[in-house]
Amino acid sequence: MTPKDSYRNRAAACEAADDVPLSPANGETIGDVILRRYSRRAVMRGTLGVTAAAVLFGPGALPKAEAATATEAFDFPEVEAGIDTTHHVAEGYRAKPLLSWGDPLMPNLPDFDPEAQSPEDQAKRFGYNNDYIAHFPIDGSSTHGLLCINHEYTNEELMFPSLSKRQDTSGFEQMTETLVEIEMAAHGVTIVEVKKEGEDWQVVRPSPYNRRITPHTPMSADGPAAGDARLKTSYDPSGKALLGTLNNCAGGHTPWGTYLTAEENFRYYFWTDHAIPGGAVPKGLGGKQAASYERYGVPGQWQAWGKFVNRFNVDIEPNEPNRFGWIVEIDPRDPTSVPVKHSALGRFCHEGAETVLSADKHAVVYCGDDSRFEYIYRFVSNDPYVEGDRSHNMTLLSKGTLSAAKFKDDGTGEWLPLKFGEGKLTEDGSYGKLKNEADVLIDARIAAELVEATKMDRPEDVQPTPDGRVYAMLTNNTKREQTDKANPRADNAFGHIIEMTPQDGDHAASAFTWRMLVRCGDPAKDDDSLWGPDTTANGWFVCPDNAAVDDRGRLWVATDQGDDWGRTGRADGLFALETDGDRSGTSKLFFRVPVGAEMCGPCFTPDGETLFVSVQHPGADGAEAFPDFGRPSVFKDPVTRWPDPDPNSKMPPRPSVMVITKAGGGKIA
Ligand code: FEO
Ligand code: CA
Ligand code: CA
Repeated sequence: MTPKDSYRNRAAACEAADDVPLSPANGETIGDVILRRYSRRAVMRGTLGVTAAAVLFGPGALPKAEAATATEAFDFPEVEAGIDTTHHVAEGYRAKPLLSWGDPLMPNLPDFDPEAQSPEDQAKRFGYNNDYIAHFPIDGSSTHGLLCINHEYTNEELMFPSLSKRQDTSGFEQMTETLVEIEMAAHGVTIVEVKKEGEDWQVVRPSPYNRRITPHTPMSADGPAAGDARLKTSYDPSGKALLGTLNNCAGGHTPWGTYLTAEENFRYYFWTDHAIPGGAVPKGLGGKQAASYERYGVPGQWQAWGKFVNRFNVDIEPNEPNRFGWIVEIDPRDPTSVPVKHSALGRFCHEGAETVLSADKHAVVYCGDDSRFEYIYRFVSNDPYVEGDRSHNMTLLSKGTLSAAKFKDDGTGEWLPLKFGEGKLTEDGSYGKLKNEADVLIDARIAAELVEATKMDRPEDVQPTPDGRVYAMLTNNTKREQTDKANPRADNAFGHIIEMTPQDGDHAASAFTWRMLVRCGDPAKDDDSLWGPDTTANGWFVCPDNAAVDDRGRLWVATDQGDDWGRTGRADGLFALETDGDRSGTSKLFFRVPVGAEMCGPCFTPDGETLFVSVQHPGADGAEAFPDFGRPSVFKDPVTRWPDPDPNSKMPPRPSVMVITKAGGGKIA
């Protein structure tokens, strides 16, 4: 979702508890000390002592450090930064819409007519606000596979011809039950078969794989919180028969070929009839769960769903909010499979969930909780992965240890396990009065606070790489009073990226080292920004959100600055970011989105020749500031009708997945 003060970024408005006081932030990290004593060039030439280099980068990085040179890691002509009503891709590349909101996924459907929407029809079509994308090859092919795509939320004023203004800021007065049902059908996940024919990718239709998963899709739960009293509702006394998924932001794909979708800002969707005029929610709602409600911002009162659908009204179903905020595993190859919410991975505003295997083959999942002053988490499975045993591997996320990260000012860090009965994680540990392991997971934020994990500047994607490093996107936080080395700006409008290196290159290790990869902002204006030496006036960015690695293990970063493009003068985009050698932190713009959109979901095919990206909410953010427009952007009067090229079109802007290939073929960049 969008950052800071912009439209959907009411996430940022969540009043998180104050930061844990840390020691004064004037110490140097181990990385700083080593780099002061030995130049980075010496480190990279391999002339640095083995111990120091291992502390700095981890042993896994040593061969890479020795091999690093000043050669540019990416080969493409940089896009010029700026903003207009369309997208731009690097010269020599083709970018085409593959799937747009409303495109049919099932057979025998007419072309999309946004003037004739219905819930039943939307449930058979591509949903709204596509975000994370995963590609699952069919028979190992890089030209034929399944795409799993999240649909995070809806911009109702751009979706519906009957709405003349944004509803969340105008009391939802124009919303109806039918519009809410259409919105629900436009949320969730799309699974779709795609194939490259000649130069172009096509949707395969009909396909037995094509499927929509929505807030109505039956799901199960497993792990310690499944069946807990706090997951039971009037319509599900088992506490295990959950209904649907929503606000699916980023996600992950597992080594065993399943899709993980992350439920992010679930609180938006919950309603109380006791809201104070203007939308504020009275304190003390939730009874015994009041501390939990408050920490998670429930009910958010930012969607009209609870006006019409009882289970989204916490006065009627006080436990329904506990059934969202999880990581959901979906088997894209079985269209009849029941998605599973894995409670062992904790409940919070899950941004994404990428999986790697530890040294001894346990599944390790990295997750961020995208709210101010929340945490970075890691799950390690109890059981190891078994090559070829898919049904066993699909149980790995059911049992394991969830930990939260502590970043120390000396450049080291540790994972603090969240286990009921240990330390303050007992009923007597006070805040939240956690009674059992289910409480620890349902209220993971409270548990992480009790173990004194480090409160971060809105952790978005936490992306592991094949060579054993991890990159954490910290998108922004302008409310910090107590800084620390890992969150060094009090007014962090533009965010930063941290590189973490697990001890001995083992993702299950309890210790890691870390360093600042970049601090975002305009290097010509923001004195405290940090970039690699060859970052141009086009290449710097703000508000890192999603990350991906390509077939060569290189890092790509997608941004979401919300309304801030008015301040930076540039649209969001996809940036190639170097991580090694003298050029570490050098960034280069590859693709940029049209006005009002954010960039999400970069996803490469295994051969590195196709890149799928999500253009989310085109025409939405900050349209009032767009030159020669200067008014709210709505269905009948949008700031852009992208991706429709017809100037006389009546089609509103449509969130779309773009497919990018190199003209004439070959690897991207
Ligand atoms: Fe949905 Fe944190 O972005
Ligand atoms: Ca986002
Ligand atoms: Ca995001």
